[in-house]
Amino acid sequence: MPFARSWKPALRLAVKGLAAVLVVGLVSAGIAALAQAQPLAQPPAQSAGDGETIFKTKCTPCHTIGGGHLVGPDLKDVTTRRTRDWLTQWISAPDQMLAAKDPIAVQLLAENNNIPMPNLALTEAEVASIIAYFETNPTVLPAQQPALPTGDPAIGRELFTGAVRFQNGGPPCMGCHSVAGIGALGGGALGPDLTPAFNKYGDAGLAQFLNSVPTVTMNAVWSGQPLTPDEQADIWAFLQQASVSGRPIQALGQLAALALAGTLVLLNIAHFYWRRRLVAVRRPLVARSRISS
Ligand code: HEC
Ligand code: HEC
Repeated sequence: MPFARSWKPALRLAVKGLAAVLVVGLVSAGIAALAQAQPLAQPPAQSAGDGETIFKTKCTPCHTIGGGHLVGPDLKDVTTRRTRDWLTQWISAPDQMLAAKDPIAVQLLAENNNIPMPNLALTEAEVASIIAYFETNPTVLPAQQPALPTGDPAIGRELFTGAVRFQNGGPPCMGCHSVAGIGALGGGALGPDLTPAFNKYGDAGLAQFLNSVPTVTMNAVWSGQPLTPDEQADIWAFLQQASVSGRPIQALGQLAALALAGTLVLLNIAHFYWRRRLVAVRRPLVARSRISS
């Protein structure tokens, strides 16, 4: 059975490849489970004072009150432009209102660069206290962002893929995200592709995002192990570069070409072994036939 045996090395390589893919998949699933297993801390909240605390921890990454548009609209006078019912529903579950095609929700999304407001999984009491806080007509200017150090996109890339570990131990971004073709095959699909993230959030918006991680899954993972300012700057620089150079379609083409090249190498190896086996089998045969003739 020289033919069957000769395919073994190729087969073994293929099995190894499959095992690697499985491991990557399992790790992604593990990270996903971890993200879901850590619920956000829910402070008890009933009053405008509590509303202020919640607003300043969970909403200021994206909103000011009287300080202009950030990632989302300026919320000055929002209690006069919207009804209490609408605000309650919206702050509780903006995703559901959008899914139900609420006309204001649809219009707001279009006006805000198609960035959906995340569902922050607030309790009824928390939502009520935020609205009570809005009714006191507060002013909340954008937080003075400490200027990020200049980032290095090459380090950002290594942090993204996990080649360099985060100082506080967070999982590599590629566990859940792809960007500009990186991770398109092996990376996680739990989070969105980040190629457009820089343009979507804008430079200041993305810096804010990396600093405060306002969305639910991200926050569950990162609040306990925040990125250092240097890491934020490096990732920021990498995502900026990826938004310019990232042509996911082309990158996918390159990946397909790589996969094809890999297959060819595999076939070559198999072919080589096959030939060698044949030679190994044929030599004694030939030798024997010489002796007998
Ligand atoms: C990740 C960014 C983000 C976070 C965090 C966020 N929002 Fe929003 N918010 C938006 C965006 C973007 C919109 C515009 C609607 C859209 O695009 O879906 C919006 C819209 C709103 C509106 C409607 C504004 C209007 O003009 O009618 C209210 C009210 C609001 N947010 C309140 C909050 C509150 C309260 C919190 C904190 C509990 C919060 N948001 C947290 C991004 C965010
Ligand atoms: C555990 C999985 C996980 C990891 C690890 C992770 N993310 Fe995310 N990320 C998500 C999910 C899920 C979302 C969608 C919003 C949400 O639910 O938080 C998201 C959203 C985002 C967004 C907003 C994208 C958009 O289009 O709105 C950015 C930016 C982002 N992540 C950056 C990062 C960076 C940078 C890292 C590494 C430092 C990272 N993420 C690591 C799961 C993850």
